[in-house]
Amino acid sequence: MTERREDASNPDVGGARRRVYIKTYGCQMNVYDSQRMSDALAKDGYEPTEVIEDADLVLLNTCHIREKAAEKVYSELGRIRLLKAERAEQGREMRVGVAGCVAQAEGQEILARAPAVDLVIGPQTYHRLPEALARVAAGEKVVETDYAVEDKFDHLPTAEEKRIRARGVTAFLTVQEGCDKFCTFCVVPYTRGAEVSRPLARIVEEARRLAASGVREVTLLGQNVNAWSGEDEAGRPVGLGGLLHRLARIEGIARLRYTTSHPRDMDDELIAAHRDLDILMPYLHLPVQSGSDKVLKAMNRRHDAAEYLRLIERIRAARGDIALSGDFIVGFPGESDADFEDTMRLVSEVGYASAFSFKYSPRPGTPGAAMDDHVSEAVKAGRLERLQALIRDQQTAFAASLVGTTMDVLIEKPGRYAHQLVGRSPYLQPVVLSSESGAVGDMVRVEIAATLPNSLMAQGADAPSRRTA
Ligand code: SAH
Ligand code: SF4
Ligand code: F3S
Repeated sequence: MTERREDASNPDVGGARRRVYIKTYGCQMNVYDSQRMSDALAKDGYEPTEVIEDADLVLLNTCHIREKAAEKVYSELGRIRLLKAERAEQGREMRVGVAGCVAQAEGQEILARAPAVDLVIGPQTYHRLPEALARVAAGEKVVETDYAVEDKFDHLPTAEEKRIRARGVTAFLTVQEGCDKFCTFCVVPYTRGAEVSRPLARIVEEARRLAASGVREVTLLGQNVNAWSGEDEAGRPVGLGGLLHRLARIEGIARLRYTTSHPRDMDDELIAAHRDLDILMPYLHLPVQSGSDKVLKAMNRRHDAAEYLRLIERIRAARGDIALSGDFIVGFPGESDADFEDTMRLVSEVGYASAFSFKYSPRPGTPGAAMDDHVSEAVKAGRLERLQALIRDQQTAFAASLVGTTMDVLIEKPGRYAHQLVGRSPYLQPVVLSSESGAVGDMVRVEIAATLPNSLMAQGADAPSRRTA
């Protein structure tokens, strides 16, 4: 049994220490936000739990990007409703909050559809979470979805605060949020608001703290991370390339990454950073969505396929060993067979190390949803299958090309067996290593001996060594 300490400052839960269960859907930005919410709640006396049945507060940090993602939340809320009723029978309360992009997009509607919900809180208002929970405790149903004038990042506690434990050797750091691009399929500009860049000094400070708490790899996050812009101490403009140069000087940080980028914002300075900074991993997520100029135009991507290919050439010229990943949508309204073949051709031409692909999902309120010429589900499914087969082949070929090469691997955690550890390749693949290679947090150089379905195996990782067996 877990110890339940008396805590007089939390009288509303009968003196027991409060526990929060947070479930995260969607992108890395939500992962980052969930950690910040957990930190903010720690200050308020909540400790995290992985067991939903134990929770006094359940928070779903939701995603609205495709219909499926949003629907998952409602089925989860159905299950939670039963749990909440069970708890009420035992005389204990369970409060339920919906955060994230579904909260922002649907607001009040969530309360109507899911009566178990006590609190709806949009991504720009997390710093008001403690206050909102106090209102919930007083019996109110709370909806907080205004875009706040104050900056949520200024209020959310970060890793330096006492109770906050280090979360491993890799960490996300949000540097930019929101989007002004308005691709016609996408809800992000509506759920996350306009593009906002965090100031350079704040980012450097947070990165230093992460490094001090043992983090060795930092991934800068933004919906359009390469649209980040700031100023140096002298007031001169700095872009993401310049920011990466600053972060590269922080002691303890061994690897930098950034995601997600828009092709339109890949400037010369950023491309040069790939040439000049070894610490910047040679792996770039650069979504193109489609290989058809007609579809790209209808999506409002504001570049054509040839421009994307030229950009890839320039990036490869700067950093020969760079590997690419991307996002694709099949079945956007008006996409013909020929348009889809253009996408297949582009994928063949680029050669991706990995890529995500999705069936177009019409989202309420976006221009795409109102377009004519929607593609049938069956056609979408057929196209997705062909595209995914091609991407899978490329991914397998890329992994196979690494066998026999040596690479730096950052050790992240123990493996499944006592004689193994798991690390990350520069290309984000999990690498299984021998426990004799080093310790968690070490960067080690290993030779890749074989590929497994979703990971790589380093030389000597398969056999337990004499010492540990
Ligand atoms: N800012 C990033 C993408 C964020 S959303 C960019 O511009 O590339 C992540 C991915 O989800 C997108 O790249 C797109 O491939 C996919 N996506 C977004 N809206 C979608 C929709 N309505 N239907 C299907 N896939 C979608
Ligand atoms: Fe969505 Fe386009 Fe903005 Fe990416 S750039 S978040 S796809 S609107
Ligand atoms: Fe989803 Fe919102 Fe991220 S819609 S992909 S959680 S920005």
